[in-house]
Amino acid sequence: MAGARAKTHNFAAGPSPLPTPVLEEAAKGLLNYGNTGMGICELSHRGKEFKPIVEGAEANLRKLLNVPESHAILFTQAGGTGQFSGVVLNVLAYLRSKRASTSYEEYRPPVLDYVVTGAWSSKAHAEAQRLSIPAVPGGKPFAEPRIAATTKPSKYTTLPKKEDYDISSDADMVYYCENETINGIEFPLDPNSPFAFPFDSVPKDALIVADHSSSFLSRPIVHLERHAIIYAGAQKNLGPSGVTVLIVRKDLLVDTTEACKLGGCPVVPIMMEYKVLADNSSLYNTPPTFAIYVSALVLTYLLKEKGGIEGLEKTNREKADMLYSTLDEAQSKGVLTCVVKDKQARSWMNVTFEIVGQEKEKEFLAGAEKLGLYQLKGHRSVGGVRASLYNAVEIDSVRILCDYIRTLYQ
Ligand SMILES: Cc1ncc(COP(=O)(O)O)c(C=O)c1O
Repeated sequence: MAGARAKTHNFAAGPSPLPTPVLEEAAKGLLNYGNTGMGICELSHRGKEFKPIVEGAEANLRKLLNVPESHAILFTQAGGTGQFSGVVLNVLAYLRSKRASTSYEEYRPPVLDYVVTGAWSSKAHAEAQRLSIPAVPGGKPFAEPRIAATTKPSKYTTLPKKEDYDISSDADMVYYCENETINGIEFPLDPNSPFAFPFDSVPKDALIVADHSSSFLSRPIVHLERHAIIYAGAQKNLGPSGVTVLIVRKDLLVDTTEACKLGGCPVVPIMMEYKVLADNSSLYNTPPTFAIYVSALVLTYLLKEKGGIEGLEKTNREKADMLYSTLDEAQSKGVLTCVVKDKQARSWMNVTFEIVGQEKEKEFLAGAEKLGLYQLKGHRSVGGVRASLYNAVEIDSVRILCDYIRTLYQ
C-alpha cells in the first residue's frame, strides 16, 4: 500500500497493527458488506450474513491451533481483564457442581494456585482474592487463592525455574500467564528448558488455566489439550479490541445458577457464564460485530497467506532472534541493556530494553519516529523501550529497527 502506512513501522503493544490487506477488505465491508448495500456494523448479529462470520472464525481458529473437539471456542467481551474474573467464577461454579453431593458445611473452598510472573498474572491473582471474600464477615471464603511461584523479587524480569515452584498438592486450579506483555517474559516452547512451565508438577485433576492474551496465534500452544481454559483478548495478534477468545474444556460448561444454589460459590453474572455463551453460539447478547468480523478476516489471512501456525512460528522466531541478537550486541557496546537477561525467558512478542544515559531514551524514541518507527515507548509502569513484534509486524520493519539500534554505537 502506498502512502503513510507503507512507511510506518508500528511496534505498539496493543491495540497493535493489523495486516494491511485485511484492513483494506474490512474498509470495504464497513461500507458495503457482501454487496448488501449495508455495512457490516449495520447488519443484525442474528442475520444470515453475520452467523457464517462467527462460525467461520471458530472453524478457522480450531484449524489454526488444532483445537480438539473436547474444547469449545467462544467469543466474548470485557477483554483479558474480564477473564481475570470470568475464570474464577466459572471454575468455582464447576468445582461446586462436581462436588454437588458435599453439603455446604463440609464443602472445602477450592485451592487456586497462581504463578505470578508479572503485572497481568498479579492482577489475576488479586481478582481471585477479591472474589474469594466471604459472603458474610468471618464466613467461609469462596476460594483459597495461593501463589505457587513468583518472580516479584526480581521485578518480574525472569521466570521461575522448575525447582522454584511450590504447586499445592491439593490445588484445584493452576493459573499462569503465557506471555507477560509489560516486561517481556514468555514461557519457552522447549519443554527441556529450565524455565518451561512445569505441566508435570500440576496435580492430575487440577484445572490448568492460561492467559494467552499477548502471544495468542504467534506460535503453537504447548499442551493445549491439557488446559481447562485458555483466553486471549484479540487486540494483539487477532483483531481490534472488543472481542475476547475463550478455549474452554466442554465439561466446564456448567449451569452456574444451579451450582450457586448449593452454596459455596459466588453468583456468576449471566454474561460471564461460559455455558450461556456456548449454548448461544457466542451470540447471547449483541456481540462486537465489527471486531469479530475483522478477526475472522485475520484468521483467514493467517491460514492462507502466512502459512498457518507453523508459518507464524517460523517468522516470529526469526523476528525475535534478529532483534535480540542486535540488542545483545548493542548491550556489549554499552549503549543499552536488555531487561530480560535469561535468554530462554525472553518474549518473542514484547522485546524490552533500556537505553543507557540520561535523556538518551527520549532521543532514541524521537530518532526512531523520524524513521517511521512508532509506539516504542515502554509501559508507563516500567518505562524503557518496548518493541512488540506481533504477527502483523513485518520482518522488514524489524530489520529497519535493528539498523537504527546499530547507529547507537556505529
Ligand atoms: C497478558 C495480558 N493479559 C491481560 C491483559 C488485559 O487485557 P484487556 O486490556 O483486554 O482487559 C493484557 C493487556 O494488555 C495483557 O497483555
